Amino acid sequence: MAKNTIMVSAERVPKHIAIIMDGNGRWAKSHLRPRAYGHKKGVDRMIGLMERAFDRGVDYITVYALSTENLKRPQKELDALFELIRTRFLDCMRKVCARGVRLNIIGERDLLPADVQEILEKAEAETRGFEGKGINVALAYGSRAEIVRAANLAVEKGEKLTEESLSALLYTGGQPDPDLIIRTGKEVRLSNFLLWQAAYAELYFSDKMFPEFSDADLDDAIAYFSSKTRRFGKTDEQLENNE
Ligand code: FPP
Repeated sequence: MAKNTIMVSAERVPKHIAIIMDGNGRWAKSHLRPRAYGHKKGVDRMIGLMERAFDRGVDYITVYALSTENLKRPQKELDALFELIRTRFLDCMRKVCARGVRLNIIGERDLLPADVQEILEKAEAETRGFEGKGINVALAYGSRAEIVRAANLAVEKGEKLTEESLSALLYTGGQPDPDLIIRTGKEVRLSNFLLWQAAYAELYFSDKMFPEFSDADLDDAIAYFSSKTRRFGKTDEQLENNE
């Protein structure tokens, strides 16, 4: 290879993408619509992005749909979100999971209405035979609570924790850690999302509100990830010399 020619490898696609879907409410407000309309659009975008990500070769997708803190929102807004689960969730997940994707609900599901829990369990059960590709939908989720839960499981078993055993006890046990975390909606923070699993993730923040985060925006985020990881800890000079 000619000296000074930087080797451009094929785009590296993250194995696991996690998304903080922020900005539904502000997007709705800017369109003079109720917040619930923003969440409705958010569901459509969530499904579209999942399909795009799997088409691109991603194996795992985690979406932050409701945090434990979000449960303190006005009941009217929570009811609108639960109604979306009642009316849309099963069909949407069937559509995406038909390509052999296993669905996992992560979080404190017992904090959700009983009929919503039943729907989530039904959706999960339909995908139980699938392995190797997964969707995690975080509902009533908080990362610190997840870590405490894992630690308590170890205490109950009288086990001394290691990094590997703690990872295995998290809701995401057995899955690769997210290598790319995307947050829409202009905020630059993780908001108690996958704090343990995010240790080595690339972080990508978009000013776009979630309902307007397009498939092309997802491609941009993947390209960002690819540009960040091509060095594999090496220097540009090492790559130029193909070391
Ligand atoms: C944050 O935007 C978004 C949420 C709290 C809900 C996210 C949910 C979806 C995208 C779809 C629902 C998914 C399921 C599985 C039903 P925000 O409302 O905090 O927006 P804001 O920061 O502009 O107020």
